[in-house]
Amino acid sequence: MNVPTLEEAKRLLSEAGRRNPGPWVDHSIFTAEAARNIASSHRKLNSEIAYILGYLHDIGRRYGISHMRHIIDGYNFLYQMSYEDCARICLTHSFPLKNIDSYTGNNDCNAEETEFIRKYISGIKYTEYDELIQLCDALTTPKGFCLLEKRLVDVALRYGVNDLTVLRWKATFEIKEKFENVIGRSIYELLPKIEETTFL
Ligand SMILES: [Fe+2]
Repeated sequence: MNVPTLEEAKRLLSEAGRRNPGPWVDHSIFTAEAARNIASSHRKLNSEIAYILGYLHDIGRRYGISHMRHIIDGYNFLYQMSYEDCARICLTHSFPLKNIDSYTGNNDCNAEETEFIRKYISGIKYTEYDELIQLCDALTTPKGFCLLEKRLVDVALRYGVNDLTVLRWKATFEIKEKFENVIGRSIYELLPKIEETTFL
């Protein structure tokens, strides 16, 4: 797969964090850890690749505070460096439901970019890595791992809901179940200190 090395990924995130500091950096690191932990119990996934994909899923935030823009910014940034598989995750991580209108928050992309995202997500079949990062993004706050329900409500309280929110939530729970069927246990068993963060 075309992904940066772990060393390069760390360099990219720390540079991005200097350009646009914020809680998103710690959220990225916890997303990476969740992805690695779940992947290590999954027969088809490589835990280091999962870690790197989680680590860089929000790298588009390097350009400043943005909403849907961050996904296309991250895609373009990594694609230019020929890290296509990592770039893809920037676009897919926000759409457990394959519908661009299910995005939670503002669409600050222009019409051309919006069309590109729409075509991209409808033209691909999600891989386990796409689904893993969609799931892990919804399992972590900047303080650590938490129950899916907590993170979903937290995002809804901050950015609002739309007609597709419940379907999006259902899609996320379906991904969780899919992974649990493969790994044969609750994903929460793989996320240290989850109770502490959930009850914070
Ligand atoms: Fe994101």
